[in-house]
Amino acid sequence: MCGIVGYIGTENNAKEVIIEGLKRLEYRGYDSAGIALCINGKIETRKHVGEISNLEKIIGDVYFESTTGIGHTRWATHGAPSDLNAHPHSNSDNTITVVHNGIIENYVELREWLREDYGVKFKSDTDTEVIAHLIGIYYDGDLYQAVCRAVEQMRGAYAIGVIAAAEPDKMVAVRKDAPLVAGIGEGCNFIASDIPALLKYVRRIFLIENNETVVLTKDDIKIYDEHQKLVRRDVFHVTWDADAAEKGGYDHFMMKEIHEQPKGLDETLTRRLDEDGDINLDGISMTKEDIEGFNKVYIVACGTAYHAGLVGKAAIEKLAKIPVEVDIASEFRYRDPFVDDKTLFIAISQSGETLDTLAALREAKKKGARILSVVNVVGSSVARESDDVFYTWAGPEIAVASTKAYTTQLMCMYLIALYMGRTKGVIDKEYYSRFIEELRGIPDKLQTVLNREADIEQIARKYCRKEQVFFIGRGVDSAVSYEGSLKLKEISYINSFAIAAGELKHGTIALIEEGTLVFALATQDFLFEKMLSNIKEIQARGANIVGIAKEGNREIEQESSEVIYLPECMDEVTPLLAVVPLQIFAYYVAKFRACNIDKPKNLAKSVTVE
Ligand code: M6R
Repeated sequence: MCGIVGYIGTENNAKEVIIEGLKRLEYRGYDSAGIALCINGKIETRKHVGEISNLEKIIGDVYFESTTGIGHTRWATHGAPSDLNAHPHSNSDNTITVVHNGIIENYVELREWLREDYGVKFKSDTDTEVIAHLIGIYYDGDLYQAVCRAVEQMRGAYAIGVIAAAEPDKMVAVRKDAPLVAGIGEGCNFIASDIPALLKYVRRIFLIENNETVVLTKDDIKIYDEHQKLVRRDVFHVTWDADAAEKGGYDHFMMKEIHEQPKGLDETLTRRLDEDGDINLDGISMTKEDIEGFNKVYIVACGTAYHAGLVGKAAIEKLAKIPVEVDIASEFRYRDPFVDDKTLFIAISQSGETLDTLAALREAKKKGARILSVVNVVGSSVARESDDVFYTWAGPEIAVASTKAYTTQLMCMYLIALYMGRTKGVIDKEYYSRFIEELRGIPDKLQTVLNREADIEQIARKYCRKEQVFFIGRGVDSAVSYEGSLKLKEISYINSFAIAAGELKHGTIALIEEGTLVFALATQDFLFEKMLSNIKEIQARGANIVGIAKEGNREIEQESSEVIYLPECMDEVTPLLAVVPLQIFAYYVAKFRACNIDKPKNLAKSVTVE
């Protein structure tokens, strides 16, 4: 996904700082990169399709030095990935240059207007170039005023960074529905779409809000609201470490993050537990009356976070006896759903910047719902726009394939469900305490599963050339199947498919033949016999079955080619463990197929466009 970095300082090191910042954003996924610097009253721009290393090759020249500049990594939305479409973009006489994340919805209209009334000739297919021309026509020596006038005409969701050849000591940035921060240095200041881009240089940050414009010089950062009034903003101190975003000895971030799950889960749990085992919702104002007043919970998310929502539904319905709907954010926002002031709306998002999830949240808010979000990134848009936030405390997740965010999201959903159930009096103290003890034991049990990595690697080696894989399960196992299937397809590019096991015989079983690989999740004691019947059905058609079951349920061995056993635990919490072998399997299959594990093709870590 697109990334923005901007720098204004005293030393001629803008190029180095910006390139370093862009590299920190590489994990988000991108298809081209570019940089523009103010040099001797002109703006010099270099941009290139492909990796940042390509860009570095073309800016190797020593004269590309400046105190002020902006850089960008692009993930194509308007116009194919190409040198011309890469950012930054400039106006006709190259005096105004812009980097941009997001989409300008009325860019076609603006483009026509600029063409007809001002004779503008466009060089790229992007919506971004429109912004540069627009600012250019309003510019008369005051960049801030020109940007304000341009913004009045722009519709859409965006963050932009702008420089002007005539004002090399100034940089202007705007946020509207796309992330933007300003970093406070000494004798220098920064802008970025994401905090990690700046952590090598600063820890003091201004979080920019929607419809705000920032004007930066090397010594000063001024934030203005949409009425051009100066805004006072508290400094946000970043406490997490940039090193937390490094690979820590693993070949890939994904494997590092898989192994970080026991720690992440422990953190998520213990931050919410008092000494006596009671769940504390510090910072979340949800009273007994509030909970009793909810007649419905709506969980909305995308991708892996949506899969976490499916497990959340099972937990809330069972423990709190409140009906739950789970929806994909991009569907919810256009459905006119039944949401009102008695609805608890739960948005789940690792990044907190997923545009569809954010839009769904706003939709629900408009309809009066109470908004609780489950988010990993502190200070992200979803977090800021929610009434309450339940942080996942997974730490930065860099690999595009989500692993530790998923399991910590599950942990949050269990805690929310338990809290609601206990507050409403649906579950008794004994069951509640047993559940909490079970959750406390999960980090160790998960470690036991991680210790089986070598066995799972062998299974991956055996099956890595399959071109089709199925995942089946019943109850919460079907929700985990969806996640296992997504993990495999997104990083190994194998066609995988997940289905509730009971649905197989209503059509999909037609695809099962000699040698078809099927992961059969059979972790639910009360559904174990039923699952065995489903497994027998597909085994009779020649499928290779990899069973996943608890240690006590050994009958599965007779029907499976391989079995991965999970430590004994309550049926309710098996998703926290059952997903782990599927993550490791996907990882090794992708590795054996020489795929780009941390940055799979066509995917981005944070999807900030529709
Ligand atoms: O940041 P979010 O949790 O809102 O992201 C939602 C999805 O894009 C994300 O979960 C995606 O499906 C995963 N990266 C897949 O592993």
